[in-house]
Amino acid sequence: MPRFTKPQSRLFFPVFSCAALLALGALYGGKDSLAATPAARSASATAKKEPAWKSSDYAPVKNQPSYKELAAVGKLMFFDPSLSASGKMACATCHSPDHAFGPPNNLQVQLGGRDGKLEGTRAVPSLRYLQTVPVFTEHFYDDDGDDSVDAGPTGGHNWDGRARNVHEQARIPLLAVNEMANASPAEVAAKLQKAAYAPQLRKLLGDEIFNNPDQLFKWGTLALEDYQDTPADFYPYSSKYDAFLRHQTQLTKQELHGLEVFNDEEKGNCASCHISAVTPEGIFPNFSDFGLLAIGVPRNMKLAINQNSKFNDMGACGPDRTDLKGRGEFCGLFRTPSLRNVATRKVFFHNGAFNDLEKVVHFYNERETNPGKWYAKDSHGKVIKYDDLPKQYVENINMEAPFNHKRGDKPPMTDAEIRDVVAFMKTLTDGYTDPIQQGGKIRTAKAQ
Ligand code: HEC
Ligand code: HEC
Repeated sequence: MPRFTKPQSRLFFPVFSCAALLALGALYGGKDSLAATPAARSASATAKKEPAWKSSDYAPVKNQPSYKELAAVGKLMFFDPSLSASGKMACATCHSPDHAFGPPNNLQVQLGGRDGKLEGTRAVPSLRYLQTVPVFTEHFYDDDGDDSVDAGPTGGHNWDGRARNVHEQARIPLLAVNEMANASPAEVAAKLQKAAYAPQLRKLLGDEIFNNPDQLFKWGTLALEDYQDTPADFYPYSSKYDAFLRHQTQLTKQELHGLEVFNDEEKGNCASCHISAVTPEGIFPNFSDFGLLAIGVPRNMKLAINQNSKFNDMGACGPDRTDLKGRGEFCGLFRTPSLRNVATRKVFFHNGAFNDLEKVVHFYNERETNPGKWYAKDSHGKVIKYDDLPKQYVENINMEAPFNHKRGDKPPMTDAEIRDVVAFMKTLTDGYTDPIQQGGKIRTAKAQ
């Protein structure tokens, strides 16, 4: 049995109150609302807290820079390859703005490092719709009136939830030997001092900080965070599905049926983790409850790290993440990704084990009914079920629908239903323009 039982519907987080306003605004927003951008920082999960720079970790700066000013410099940093040791790699190299800030190619993991040849160990996630990721907690309780249900570990950044927030997260790629490969924060600070936008930074942060590499680095990561909290770029809610929710367009018959199968607890049951519904408060869904779960993704034998048969990437219990080391119940758990813009990706799951979206849905459908299709075999030809997780942890693997079937059973979805689910997921790609709108007749949104 899985250690944590997930309730069927985890529709919203308490931090959503401001997001509710923005989604309502969108629903009632009239003709501009298809392109409407939600109110700035208000939808951020950090909105209710003091800004990070007010903590004692940050030296005070003369002109308290506004979120907007910092975000503008953060954007320049995000696209600046001179911040890497090779001089060739920016954040945007892996997190491509043309691919919802996910990987620009079909490589399962990207190459980085000083010479640009070192292989990463995990697939690059999209950076969109992360504004509501809660801080990691081992026991998450919904704010839906029933606080007796423990939804289990939830939140945090990266596939394993190990980074507390987006500015702490930025340290990792800037310093990782197989990513931007700077030797130290001081090396990054030296690059910031030479950057084309150094005068802007100096104006915002003052001369003092420029003599304090550690602080310059920290403020740099805050600027990156503020950029990644820019609604127009990072949570535009401009997909066909959003237009549908605003009653501005229709889904095709196939897309609608795909949505039904996606939601159906007897079929895909996808929405139990990848939330698809607008909440009663009018909050648009981000297609993840950000829970950490073990779904038994097959070992990716093509990854260099996996050539070592003793190595397992076990997500929350390590080895990359270290604070839950030795806590067996966390082994194999990875954070549920948002499915918004998923059709723009060419690699799927934390280890990039899949290159085809339809195949991913087949995996969900037949993981239990036909495990031989997905997992390696031992020397006697016996299927090693969940072949990327040491045996003693397989009880962590989630067994709820669509995984509640036995070997040889009929799978819960038909091939046609799987194609429909994929068609539905394609409606989650941002940047949708309704053909009717393009023809000049703008339909106004109806209030629900
Ligand atoms: C070499 C490719 C590469 C580069 C360059 C890179 N990243 Fe990433 N990024 C990744 C990978 C891979 C992950 C997932 C890491 C993990 O789960 O351990 C990730 C994860 C993230 C996450 C967490 C997303 C989530 O779902 O919680 C954020 C935020 C992020 N990167 C921002 C940045 C920023 C900002 C930069 C530039 C300073 C950057 N990245 C540079 C590959 C890259
Ligand atoms: C029990 C919770 C749960 C259910 C149910 C679930 N997922 Fe997931 N989904 C996850 C988790 C956790 C991951 C990440 C797993 C990993 O990488 O190890 C994931 C990853 C994915 C990915 C890869 C996205 C990416 O960016 O790489 C896709 C696509 C996906 N799910 C689609 C679906 C569909 C379609 C269904 C229904 C048939 C579904 N999921 C049901 C939890 C769930």
